[in-house]
Amino acid sequence: MTDTKQKIPDYWQWFTDSRYGLFIHWGPYAVYGRGEQVLFREHLDHQEYAEMACNWNPEHFDARLWARTAKAAGFKYACFTTRHHDGFCMWDSAYTDYSSARQAAGRDFVREYVEAFRAEGLRVGLYYSWIDWRLPAYFDGPQKDPQGWESVRNYLHNQVKELLTNYGRIDHFFFDGVWPRNADELGSVELLEEMRRLQPHILVNNRLGYSEQHDGFRADGGVGAGDSDTLGDFGTPEHVIVPDDRRLWESCQVTTWRLWSHSIGERWRPADVLLDMLVDCVQKGGGPTGGGGNLLLNVGPMADGQLPPEFVERAMQIGRWLEVHGEAVYGTDGGSVTEFITRGWQTTRENHLYLIIRFWDGRPQLRLADLVTPVEAVTLLTTGQELSFRQDGEVLYIDGLPVESPTSLFPVIRITCKDRPAANQWGRERLWEGDPSRIAQWAKVRGNSVYANGEER
Ligand code: GLC
Repeated sequence: MTDTKQKIPDYWQWFTDSRYGLFIHWGPYAVYGRGEQVLFREHLDHQEYAEMACNWNPEHFDARLWARTAKAAGFKYACFTTRHHDGFCMWDSAYTDYSSARQAAGRDFVREYVEAFRAEGLRVGLYYSWIDWRLPAYFDGPQKDPQGWESVRNYLHNQVKELLTNYGRIDHFFFDGVWPRNADELGSVELLEEMRRLQPHILVNNRLGYSEQHDGFRADGGVGAGDSDTLGDFGTPEHVIVPDDRRLWESCQVTTWRLWSHSIGERWRPADVLLDMLVDCVQKGGGPTGGGGNLLLNVGPMADGQLPPEFVERAMQIGRWLEVHGEAVYGTDGGSVTEFITRGWQTTRENHLYLIIRFWDGRPQLRLADLVTPVEAVTLLTTGQELSFRQDGEVLYIDGLPVESPTSLFPVIRITCKDRPAANQWGRERLWEGDPSRIAQWAKVRGNSVYANGEER
């Protein structure tokens, strides 16, 4: 696993060590309470929407409270919507008056956010949508409206540069909403160069548009393809946990259903489902790209600036779990050393193998097959209890487990090995990989004594 890692620059190490980031979708759309795309999805009147946005004054927004909550919940970084597809800017942009700073609120929310999160020791990220539904030229594009397009493109570039100039060090940048433009039209390669000049250590995502020049020709000319195959430092699987094997990756996920900004009356995923997503990202991390495997978990704060209590409750539950079990998540090297699907997840860090148990069966013994590395100690991390164990060939028996699950979330057992944990062929190839004759051989040995082809032998 780790042997095949490509080296990532040291200044990006924070990203793979963090594993867990907070995505924040917040803007005037929260007033409607039906998702961040309500303007277009409900085909609202632009003028009315703009009036609402200009009058929006979220009096309870307290970035320090958000930051303290995020930190206590175990997030290591955050990414904040500076401008979503509605075009309303959450900072004091010199290029438009359509912003929180120049309208009713009179506040630069981006500044408040970056300062508060940085002060809590979290890394800061900015989300920026290419799309602006107010600008016809964005959709007409350079062919139909060359002049209009030119000014839209300058506007976009200027705003991105402004965000990377006026707010100190920015660690993470999340573009979105490329459709229907492509990278060549957007000039995203040139912009990326500028971004790196302004912020040499920044990590930029892959929603830079498809580029004929960089990605090769695609039948659709890249139209409709928001993700570049090659541009950008990290991939952004959305609503799914599918590793990007070309680069670092971060799966972005909602805590609710599919809308990203606050939706009144929404249903919430329980904490164990959210923790499942985090652990899944972490265990799929590692591998050739040297880490990836982050979860960017979303919250849509309410229109008045408060975090929804349903979110805080779940996030804090996970935060308390991470306080005890964080070493099985942060800075880990991916997982899935041997077969463990009948119990839950695995992650690794140096010589440790962590068993993250989804279902606690109340039995005193756990049997782990196919681990070849000698084991030195086994600890129930959840309680700190040292557990007795014995290795019989390539099977590890762990004893003395309590009847009751020691946590309402997932208990974790830490296995300290003599070396990096490794499995035999069965543990590596499992059911669906490798040479099937291995399984045929096994079936012959085990099956013949009772029934074969329905007949007793
Ligand atoms: C999608 C949505 C957008 C959301 C983003 C988050 O692209 O269009 O509203 O902000 O996902 O990744």
